Amino acid sequence: MNDAPIGIFDSGLGGLTVTRAILDQLPNEQVRYLGDNANAPYGPKPLGAIRAMALDVMDRLVADGVKMLVIACNTAASVALRDARERYTDRHGIPVIEVILPAARAAVHATRSGKIGVIATKSTVQSLAYDDAFHVTPGLQIITQACPEFVRLVEEGRTSGDEVMKYAREYLDPVKAAGVDTLVLGCTHYPLLRGAISYVMGDDVTLVSSADETAKDVYRKLVEHGLERSAGAGAPVHTFLTTGEPARVQPLAHRFLGPEVALVEAV
Ligand code: SIN
Repeated sequence: MNDAPIGIFDSGLGGLTVTRAILDQLPNEQVRYLGDNANAPYGPKPLGAIRAMALDVMDRLVADGVKMLVIACNTAASVALRDARERYTDRHGIPVIEVILPAARAAVHATRSGKIGVIATKSTVQSLAYDDAFHVTPGLQIITQACPEFVRLVEEGRTSGDEVMKYAREYLDPVKAAGVDTLVLGCTHYPLLRGAISYVMGDDVTLVSSADETAKDVYRKLVEHGLERSAGAGAPVHTFLTTGEPARVQPLAHRFLGPEVALVEAV
């Protein structure tokens, strides 16, 4: 089991930001990444549909024999985490890691004023998952903003240019005006728009993404469960899968993650 890959899933390309951090922190591990590009974006869909799609994709990864699941999608984590832990951890002993609590934890450490902005998809905002995550820390003021066009732009490979700046200003100007000192990128696609987001928010606002903190959680869980890949197991081989069109996804995945994406296969 230890030499099995870590299963990582997202609605599309955004989970590659979390994958990058996992590969950097755990270079001996193998990952099996599944992007549900055929169904992206999840954000505008009804919660029941998101839950069903997310569980379907995770069922596949579990059937493929992964040793751990990482829900590298805030929208899926906000609606399907409890079901996933019942279905995979309680029944099969497979740990499930998510991205919301790690991002909230990093934001609490980063803020000086206690005024934190959260940008996310409509479903994540409606789920109140971030409000719940911050609830345990008294004295915070949370300003939440849905950014419905951001995921589409990333999935189309557009991370700069006029349209990106137009939406960045539209969504972020009110958050900046509210005086936040920390901004949570509450969707794993958003770090790929970091340039535009940082340009609008300015240098005084700390941008927090869940990638590095989530990778730390993955590390911690592997150690706790004695699941680290053995040192002599050979060079890791990573697998990248999509429910969409590999020919369209592969160049973008290569651009966003790096040379580890040699091939994207269809499921
Ligand atoms: C989406 O598919 O709409 C967003 C993914 C995320 O929330 O991380």
